[in-house]
Amino acid sequence: MKEGELFEDLDHQLKTQGYAIIDLPLSQRQLRTAQSSFKDFLTLPGETKQGIFVPESYPGIEDSIAGYVQSKRKQGSSDNKQHFHYNQVLASQFSKKPGLDPKVINFFNHAEELYHATHQTLEDVFDAFETQYSGIKSYFFPEDGLTQLYNRYIQYEFDEDNLSIAKPHLDRGGFTMAIYESKPGLRLHHFDGQEYITTNVQAHPNKAIIFPGYKLPKVMKQLGYDCPYQALAHDVIIKEIGKQIRNSTVTFLDPCIDIPVRGDPTHFAEDSQLMRHLRSL
Ligand SMILES: [Fe+2]
Repeated sequence: MKEGELFEDLDHQLKTQGYAIIDLPLSQRQLRTAQSSFKDFLTLPGETKQGIFVPESYPGIEDSIAGYVQSKRKQGSSDNKQHFHYNQVLASQFSKKPGLDPKVINFFNHAEELYHATHQTLEDVFDAFETQYSGIKSYFFPEDGLTQLYNRYIQYEFDEDNLSIAKPHLDRGGFTMAIYESKPGLRLHHFDGQEYITTNVQAHPNKAIIFPGYKLPKVMKQLGYDCPYQALAHDVIIKEIGKQIRNSTVTFLDPCIDIPVRGDPTHFAEDSQLMRHLRSL
């Protein structure tokens, strides 16, 4: 698809439904193999996993963590979430390190393949945006400097039903791209100017779901444009019963300049229109 055509398509989808489905050059096999190499990585001892971590992977940029993170919920002792952020910084620090466990090397090989495919896909998106919003691409893909793109691999274990894995929120970055989910559960909530419209979605092979985060309109404003797209509210709800594991892979693209997020504009108050809408479903 030519840049102009891609822009028309993205622009239409983002304006009418808040998100866009785009082509992704990754097969189901590639995505599943990457996930299973992540699962193998998770079987390594805690200290091996925790050793692969870069606390501030982009100096001066808040929250730019790369590598392995584990968290447990305060309630529900069986809940266990492990995730891994794979980005350029991590790859340059660890991929050539001697003595890495073969499971780490194998996961990195697959993660690198996904990194390139997601980078290419989002670069194409910004080539398309550049046709209409001159200057925007260099905020996300700087000619000299690191692109703030990372792939988050998530494994969530739980045994409650009707569980909210992720509460309704906006993402903080420029764009989010959902590329793999082992089970349904992701819901997107688009505000059409009057009311919220909720759509259940799941990423399919060779397709990704892309939506704007909190910083996209801020970048456009800095460039002097009115952003016609909104950061998209979303959550993850599991309806099935029984002990389960859910795996997903999500790409995050942030602008390369630090745009401070004041307070917490990315979560919704209980009496907000979105939360009232969700209770009515
Ligand atoms: Fe999110």
